[in-house]
Amino acid sequence: MSKTLKIGIIGSGGIAAAHVNAYKTRDDVEIVAVADVVPGKAAEFIDRMGLTSAKPYEDHRKLLEEDLDGVSVCTPNVAHHQTSVDALNAGKNVLVEKPMSVTLEQAIEMVEASKRNNKMLTVGFQPRYDPNMVLLKNLVQSGELGKVYYVQTGGGRRRGMPGGTFIRKDLAGAGALADIGCYSLDMALNALGYPKPLTVSAYSSNHFGTNPLYHPQADQFDVEDFGVAMVRFENDVVLNFKISWAMHMDSLGPTLFLGTDAGLKVLPAGQGPWSGVWDGRVGSITMFHDIQGHHTESPIPLQEHRVNLFHEKVYAFIDAIKEGKPAPIPGEQILRNQAIIDGILRSAALRREVDIEIPNI
Ligand SMILES: NC(=O)c1ccc[n+]([C@@H]2O[C@H](COP(=O)([O-])OP(=O)(O)OC[C@H]3O[C@@H](n4cnc5c(N)ncnc54)[C@H](O)[C@@H]3O)[C@@H](O)[C@H]2O)c1
Repeated sequence: MSKTLKIGIIGSGGIAAAHVNAYKTRDDVEIVAVADVVPGKAAEFIDRMGLTSAKPYEDHRKLLEEDLDGVSVCTPNVAHHQTSVDALNAGKNVLVEKPMSVTLEQAIEMVEASKRNNKMLTVGFQPRYDPNMVLLKNLVQSGELGKVYYVQTGGGRRRGMPGGTFIRKDLAGAGALADIGCYSLDMALNALGYPKPLTVSAYSSNHFGTNPLYHPQADQFDVEDFGVAMVRFENDVVLNFKISWAMHMDSLGPTLFLGTDAGLKVLPAGQGPWSGVWDGRVGSITMFHDIQGHHTESPIPLQEHRVNLFHEKVYAFIDAIKEGKPAPIPGEQILRNQAIIDGILRSAALRREVDIEIPNI
């Protein structure tokens, strides 16, 4: 019989339930501990989720004294860094929710802890498990587009501002960038093979979140609800990135990959005011190219599937632990995603272009 993996959950709010629901579908996994800083919350979660053999803790460091193969870090963004570093130092593998961290420095420390302790650090970008996201990457990597020199991505909601911890800088670190921007960055960068970012020139604002007309917690809102950036990468590629939680517009446009031989227009799946921000599935991919001198638009057939993206991300973590495989979405790679967000926040604050410096770890 295969070994039963022992898993701990740090942070028992909304997304922790999605992790637990995925773990519970596996008979080779046992959730043995849950930690939440709010007194009583972990015990209530254990009860509600039917985790009969799990122990509750308030301090994640106590949870880490348990014999665990891995932990899911499901805290608000600001706590991702310390809980992940502590878990890695305690010899546990880590699946951390997105965004990886709040600052680039924190992301670097997380990767260093992973390497130092020879433990896995993987980041929870579930859209990666959409087979059509894999198709998109294969198309971009196939060479059919020629040299890809420009990518445009991001997403915009006309009205789609969350509340709670997401709108407070002390808990979330950033707003729309951290909540949804990191997804579109991951899609674009993953398709390109995660090139190294060099510079960024950015702007951000929060005209909607701070206005009581648009947000019921406007008095607590101190993150950005809009961001736009021009990012330069190694190998002469540029990214035009834009993200919005709220605006007087229906869309900030499709995701585009421009190559010297062909271009791709990519639209997300789903409809409704909270959709269109690349936290789910690919809706359509169209290739623009010339055939015998004729301007041609070819819809790329998508794979119909019923893949549960959230389950797949948890399974990828479990299977990597069991099979001793590398992290499915490695911290070293997502460091570059975090470096861009960090650069956007710095550039927007300074109102000028800034360099992005990523050490070789
Ligand atoms: N992948 C996705 O689709 C997705 C969706 C939503 C949220 N998220 C991410 O998941 C994370 C959590 O979001 P949420 O909506 O579940 O938030 P939440 O506020 O509902 O839950 C977070 C929980 O963590 C607890 N907590 C805070 N600091 C802690 C610490 N140091 N140790 C232990 N517990 C701590 C809080 O008390 C709270 O119960 C965020 O980083 C968010 O970006 C991912």
